[in-house]
Amino acid sequence: MMHLAVLLLVISYHGTNAVTRACPYKPADIVFVVDGSGSEGLANFQKQLAFIQNFTGQFEIGKNQTQVSLVTFSTDVTNEFNLNSYARKVDVLSAIGRTNYPNGETHTHLALDYVRLHSLTPQNGSRTNVNKIVIVLTDGKSNEEALTVQAASLLKLRRDVSVIAIGIGNAVDPRELLAIASNKNHTFTVTSFDLLETIHQDLTDTTCHTCGQGPADIFFLLDSSGSEGSVNFRKQLEFVNTVANEFDFGPDTTQMGLATFATGVSLEIPITRYHTKSEFMQNVLRVLFRDGESNLHLGLELTRTQLSDKILTVKSHRFAIILTDGRSLEHERTVEEARKLHMNGVETFVIGIGNDVDDMELRDVASDRSHVFRVNTFDQLDNIHQQIVDRICAEKTVFPTTTTTTPKPTTHTTMSPTTTKPTTTTHKPTTHTTMGTTTTTKPACGPKVADILFVLDSSDSEGPENFKKILDFVYNFARQFAIGVNNVLFSLITYSSSVNVRFYFNTYTSRNNVLNAIQNTSYIGLGTNTSDALHVARTEIFQTQHGSRPNATNIVIVITDGRSRNPNATVVEATLLKKTAEVFSIGIGPEVDQHELSAIASKPSYVMQVNSFELLHTIEGKITEAACSGRI
Ligand SMILES: *[C@@H]1O[C@H](CO)[C@@H](O)[C@H](O)[C@H]1NC(C)=O
Ligand SMILES: *[C@@H]1O[C@H](CO)[C@@H](O)[C@H](O)[C@H]1NC(C)=O
Ligand SMILES: *[C@@H]1O[C@H](CO)[C@@H](O)[C@H](O)[C@H]1NC(C)=O
Ligand SMILES: *[C@@H]1O[C@H](CO)[C@@H](O)[C@H](O)[C@H]1NC(C)=O
Ligand SMILES: *[C@@H]1O[C@H](CO)[C@@H](O)[C@H](O)[C@H]1NC(C)=O
Ligand SMILES: *[C@@H]1O[C@H](CO)[C@@H](O)[C@H](O)[C@H]1NC(C)=O
Ligand SMILES: *[C@@H]1O[C@H](CO)[C@@H](O)[C@H](O)[C@H]1NC(C)=O
Ligand SMILES: *[C@@H]1O[C@H](CO)[C@@H](O)[C@H](O)[C@H]1NC(C)=O
Repeated sequence: MMHLAVLLLVISYHGTNAVTRACPYKPADIVFVVDGSGSEGLANFQKQLAFIQNFTGQFEIGKNQTQVSLVTFSTDVTNEFNLNSYARKVDVLSAIGRTNYPNGETHTHLALDYVRLHSLTPQNGSRTNVNKIVIVLTDGKSNEEALTVQAASLLKLRRDVSVIAIGIGNAVDPRELLAIASNKNHTFTVTSFDLLETIHQDLTDTTCHTCGQGPADIFFLLDSSGSEGSVNFRKQLEFVNTVANEFDFGPDTTQMGLATFATGVSLEIPITRYHTKSEFMQNVLRVLFRDGESNLHLGLELTRTQLSDKILTVKSHRFAIILTDGRSLEHERTVEEARKLHMNGVETFVIGIGNDVDDMELRDVASDRSHVFRVNTFDQLDNIHQQIVDRICAEKTVFPTTTTTTPKPTTHTTMSPTTTKPTTTTHKPTTHTTMGTTTTTKPACGPKVADILFVLDSSDSEGPENFKKILDFVYNFARQFAIGVNNVLFSLITYSSSVNVRFYFNTYTSRNNVLNAIQNTSYIGLGTNTSDALHVARTEIFQTQHGSRPNATNIVIVITDGRSRNPNATVVEATLLKKTAEVFSIGIGPEVDQHELSAIASKPSYVMQVNSFELLHTIEGKITEAACSGRI
């Protein structure tokens, strides 16, 4: 007897990484707001607590590090503990564990008001100059939606507060979730409480602002003209270091350079010179005050050269931060040079200090109105550093594309065709933690053979970049399996206005060829003829002459970002296909039609939705588990 014997050793990619990245030296105040309404039940409530404990576990907790508070709500609000209630991680974790299930209605607005008025106050431990993050977990609609929306708006009026909303289960209202969250990238949905862990990493990234990820090049241009004097000049240098301290340094992450301008311009620290933060910061403090006129245009020209493709060979986000206390000598040339800088894709921030600045000029120099900052004195520079850091972090996007364009390097696949015994009992993943590295051993995927067909939407609504993300997902999924005639076979079709069979089950015999073919799939664009794709799946793909095996489980995974042209025909074809195969449907983004997704899938639990293409990988584990489980 042959077994599909695949042993998956997934070295969890959220082990210690999260802690060694941007989070530890970027302290945060995190308030969890947890739905304890009657709809979810005690067991699910406790799953939320377990998730929060796990999530909190990765942060350094302390007065100078991350602080955590917990508020529960149902009919009323209960403040479980404040940001400053506990200074040790063990105490926070056990306090989370002690939380009682309130069991009542869903008065979300009361909780949001409470957080704004009481949790995020200095008296209760909220710190200035620290990111404040409110994470709301809910399993349904609030009782008074209008009040919820209003309370959320008031909370979000505080510019230093980010609100993340997590919806759990099928009763969640996506509109309400969006109204609660600071922006779309701050919303997460999972179809069940058991899946909360699937968003662990993305939630961590969002929480930490992932400023350390994705390369950024930041160039500082400081005014060294006679008007300010060396004491004030020194304050600019300190400001540079305060900002620098918030970033991860290195050629693959953030590089920084610095120049000063006065009568002439002087390149103090070329952008590629230092690869460690401490070297950079030490040398910043050695920069000398020059004295002279204010030839800002020369500084802008040098900034453009430093942030050009000639010097920066890696594609990166490029930022210029310009500090000045006066007006430039040659206004016209300043405006002209600023324009060239913007044309080169450099996000330009400008900070005007004191009363002698020309506000119009500042606006011309900045690449966006919102990139202009004003302070009255050099001493106030420190007050705005967090805003600038946050802007830069926001520009760098919450989810770096690097995680989706390369296969996860930390996921190791080991195929062991002979040593894995087919397991008969239902098996839970076993987890053990060694030296901070979390290792999850997934159960073997067997003892079944499977024919897995991917049906990919290649319509014009998504664009080639997003299509590539779908391919990355398929690739990462497929590479977990032992591919072959005694194990798992893959076939792939794409559809837009017409259907393209990319390969049948028997087109390729080697694993490598299958994986290559997945990556090589071209994007089409045009309409969304889902019904035709499902028709081809049934009548053409699952046929013996195309390698479909009678002894295999037939699985179809449909991935779409939109609604089909002909919904009625789609439903008819889906019904027929489901007699042949187990069908999963994955919807990406806000345009998907939930009813259609449900109509396509064999069971409600086979419907999966993610908010964006970047989040596709969060459901990989669930699909694998479902595809591998003996239940099919
Ligand atoms: C499944 O069927 C194929 C041909 O249809 C055969 O080659 C293979 O050995 C069979 N596998 C098992 C596990 O029965
Ligand atoms: C957190 O969850 C992960 C799975 O996502 C698990 O491997 C890990 O052991 C959990 N950590 C704790 C402290 O429960
Ligand atoms: C927090 O930081 C301050 C100033 O840097 C320091 O004096 C204090 O000892 C620190 N407290 C803890 C608990 O580390
Ligand atoms: C601080 O938290 C307590 C509950 O622990 C609350 O009663 C009080 O109103 C809060 N303080 C402020 C200023 O909101
Ligand atoms: C959300 O993320 C996407 C993709 O990374 C990005 O393009 C977009 O600007 C982000 N939106 C907001 C509001 O941050
Ligand atoms: C979908 O494909 C079928 C068969 O190729 C065709 O008859 C139909 O017109 C197509 N529909 C659209 C909207 O392109
Ligand atoms: C990739 O596709 C192109 C045409 O689309 C084809 O010429 C090439 O052979 C393919 N490569 C692989 C490895 O399949
Ligand atoms: C789809 O079916 C519904 C009811 O079954 C019908 O009202 C509607 O007209 C149909 N739409 C099309 C485009 O055929």
